[in-house]
Amino acid sequence: MASHPFGANPPAAAMTIYAPIQSTIEKAAALLREGDLVAFPTETVYGLGADATNDRAVAKIFAAKARPQFNPLIIHVPDLAAAQALGALDERARRLAERFWPGPLSIVVPRRPDCPVSRLATAGLDTLALRAPDHHVAQALLRAAGRPIAGPSANVSGRLSATTAAHVAKDLGRHVNAILDGGPCRIGLESTVVACLPARAWLLRPGAVTTEQISAVIGPLDAAPANDPERSPGQLLAHYAPTLPLRLQASSPKGAQEALLAFGERTPPGFSKVLNLSPTGDLVEAASHLFAFLHELDQPEFSGIAVMPIPERGLGVAINDRLRRAAHGSTMIRQ
Ligand code: TXA
Ligand code: MG
Repeated sequence: MASHPFGANPPAAAMTIYAPIQSTIEKAAALLREGDLVAFPTETVYGLGADATNDRAVAKIFAAKARPQFNPLIIHVPDLAAAQALGALDERARRLAERFWPGPLSIVVPRRPDCPVSRLATAGLDTLALRAPDHHVAQALLRAAGRPIAGPSANVSGRLSATTAAHVAKDLGRHVNAILDGGPCRIGLESTVVACLPARAWLLRPGAVTTEQISAVIGPLDAAPANDPERSPGQLLAHYAPTLPLRLQASSPKGAQEALLAFGERTPPGFSKVLNLSPTGDLVEAASHLFAFLHELDQPEFSGIAVMPIPERGLGVAINDRLRRAAHGSTMIRQ
């Protein structure tokens, strides 16, 4: 273990910067498996890693980054075989992976029905962005962790991406348990994100792999669809709209068959079924349950889903943003 000399200005919390050797990588992998956050180097930028199959760990990412809304996260895997266990890679996706992985290309594909990745990590979408990074530390960490790692760029939302361990420590030091210091990132620019869905393939984010390089492998890319969530974030919810109507700021039931998504210790009586996002009022816990509980309550036996007020602070801002979009989406679908 090697701590960096931060001089008179050390990072505040119980965070350690590790020189990446086998023992520290194994330690970092154990932290990930326990649900902690670990920042790790990739060839593009540093990632803020969490066990992608653990809702609560993923919620910590959104809290640490203070993302204004739940943007879907890139899911890191060691190789094509690991990717195929999570997503349905069609012919084009497979050819891209074979040509550019490990490397700076994230491929958005449909989730497999049995995909264990947290619905919060994919922002409730039925797709997921998969990437096998080309960095020996990231590779060793992924293999030691033995599970997919959700990893957005390790910066506070809206700030510059982190390309050194010191950047990460400065921005997120209070929120991560460990940083693996792999030195400066070779590319320093985020991966290219390309969607490969059954009907079409299109560019979501330009990055280190050019469209020309992509076209050389799978032919010209298609135009982005009108409801491309990346270009029009307001459309994101069209992909995630509960079938049932959603009623926000609810304090008592409306009709006999309403389900309740509760928050906090006092739950009003008279609902058909109640799931509590966090009885103790913990917004990180609430965020981690949000998508899973909405899925569970979205059943034909109920007339609708009522949602108790969630405080508009911390992760509550993101939770309310998603709930407002969800309520709007279900209204539009019923019209
Ligand atoms: O180079 C990189 O890609 C870095 C390193 C750490 O791997 N990660 C990164 O993650 O830049 P992030 O979260 O900062 O950016 C992920 C991008 C976002 O623009 C997000 O909207 C998009 O990928 N994305 C993720 N999943 C998606 C999905 N299912 N559909 C559409 N876009 C998706
Ligand atoms: Mg980013």
